[in-house]
Amino acid sequence: MRKQIAAANWKMNLSLEQGEQLMDELIASDHSLNSNQLAIFAVPFPYLLPVSKKLAGKTNAFAAAQNCSANKNGAYTGEVSAEMLRSIDIHYVIIGHSERREYNHETNGILAEKVNRAFEAGIKPIFCCGEPLGIREAGTQNSFVETQLKESLFHLTKEQLQDFIIAYEPIWAIGTGKTASSAQAQEMHAHIRSVLAAQYGKETADSISILYGGSVKAANATEIFGQPDVDGGLVGGASLIAAEFNAIINSLRK
Ligand code: PGA
Repeated sequence: MRKQIAAANWKMNLSLEQGEQLMDELIASDHSLNSNQLAIFAVPFPYLLPVSKKLAGKTNAFAAAQNCSANKNGAYTGEVSAEMLRSIDIHYVIIGHSERREYNHETNGILAEKVNRAFEAGIKPIFCCGEPLGIREAGTQNSFVETQLKESLFHLTKEQLQDFIIAYEPIWAIGTGKTASSAQAQEMHAHIRSVLAAQYGKETADSISILYGGSVKAANATEIFGQPDVDGGLVGGASLIAAEFNAIINSLRK
């Protein structure tokens, strides 16, 4: 059975003190996550170690990086490699968030390389895809997302994609307060799964957790996570508020 996942994306927010306080509040609440559910905290690089320390001993909660370099090592000032993340015991990394695609010009080809570096280091990517508003309005979102998947993931083996994590984030719904309707989310998630099944077979496609991202909050999480092909969420703004993210974790399907 594929994992149900609540992934926080703090982006470039919070001081260390604020972040630690948020983690303390979250840890203090009783989530009763079952063995099929995961909470992931994608935090800024300087907070990876302190947040991991807070989560030490937990079997279903982990810190994650928000990015890694497409290169293995070398003269890339300011970059952080997947191997470095692994050396501090980080097991997850977000790859291809729309903000990085836009502001850092990360193409599908560059993201394929980042995915490769993550696998080489033994780190699990959380691969983001999703269409901008213009593509949604033109009604070509299915082929747009299919191309993102093909160009960044289809060089991988079936074994690598087993239990993989994808986040579908319609760009027009990120940080805007606009959420895709649960029907729109389900439709795209089912499309993503069918594209994966056509290439890798149903069994592999069914093992992949597909998270929804884009203005998920406590008030809409249960409805969105209730869709059969939605396996949790990648949450920005609402992950910065303990009560909100707690409720989101508790909205994961059992
Ligand atoms: P949001 O961000 O929840 O603030 O819309 C989601 C994301 O970008 O991961």
